[in-house]
Amino acid sequence: MRKLAAGNWKMNGTLASLAEIDALLGADRDCEVLICPPATLIHPMVARIAGEAVAVGGQDCHAEAKGAHTGDLAAAQLADAGAEYVIVGHSERRTDHAEDDASVAAKARAAHQAGLTAIVCVGETEAQRDGGETLDVIARQLAGSIPDGATAGNTVVAYEPVWAIGTGRTPDNDQIAEVHGAIRGALTARFADGNDFRLLYGGSVKPGNAAEIFAIPNVNGALVGGASLKAADFAPIVAALDAA
Ligand code: 13P
Repeated sequence: MRKLAAGNWKMNGTLASLAEIDALLGADRDCEVLICPPATLIHPMVARIAGEAVAVGGQDCHAEAKGAHTGDLAAAQLADAGAEYVIVGHSERRTDHAEDDASVAAKARAAHQAGLTAIVCVGETEAQRDGGETLDVIARQLAGSIPDGATAGNTVVAYEPVWAIGTGRTPDNDQIAEVHGAIRGALTARFADGNDFRLLYGGSVKPGNAAEIFAIPNVNGALVGGASLKAADFAPIVAALDAA
């Protein structure tokens, strides 16, 4: 399994920000590196990293292949711009755009049809964790958000506790291990190659905690927000994964 260090730039970055990725180029490493910039930067980023071992992805796609959906992007359009991945079901999309599990599954299906690898995000809110519902919530999101036809080759699962995103707080190692173990179990129960899916942890991953998180069983990489925006933060996270 090839581990994956993924950066989610969210709604940050302009053409000037592309300089940040230069520090990630030219390295010889075992793990895969992915940046998901705003859609405006996908094509220029792909052009800038041409021939380098860094992949580019989108942050969302529409479930339909084309049509009258002002402001949306089809998975095939992301692929046409050079994207190889797309994040679907990020908690910010689930909250800001009222996306439910069924719509996330439809988007993942569209990504697969366009030849993209879907990064399907799941994660509990703080109230759900406090209420002891975490594993039930994760099981429900996995069952509803991952479409039939998913394989280890076309799907990555990211566990992002909503309360850990952008807060500087992370679950303790045992909590991450418990959820990642449950995700692994659900995938192996449903898919023949469930053992081979890459499982990412996301939520306040920083250079200072990356190595510790990457040592947790069934953590096969990270989905990094704030710390992916600056090479000075992201490069050490990538190095920690490569060394794990
Ligand atoms: P932060 O790393 O900023 O907490 O964001 C995590 C995230 O949402 C990545 O998708």
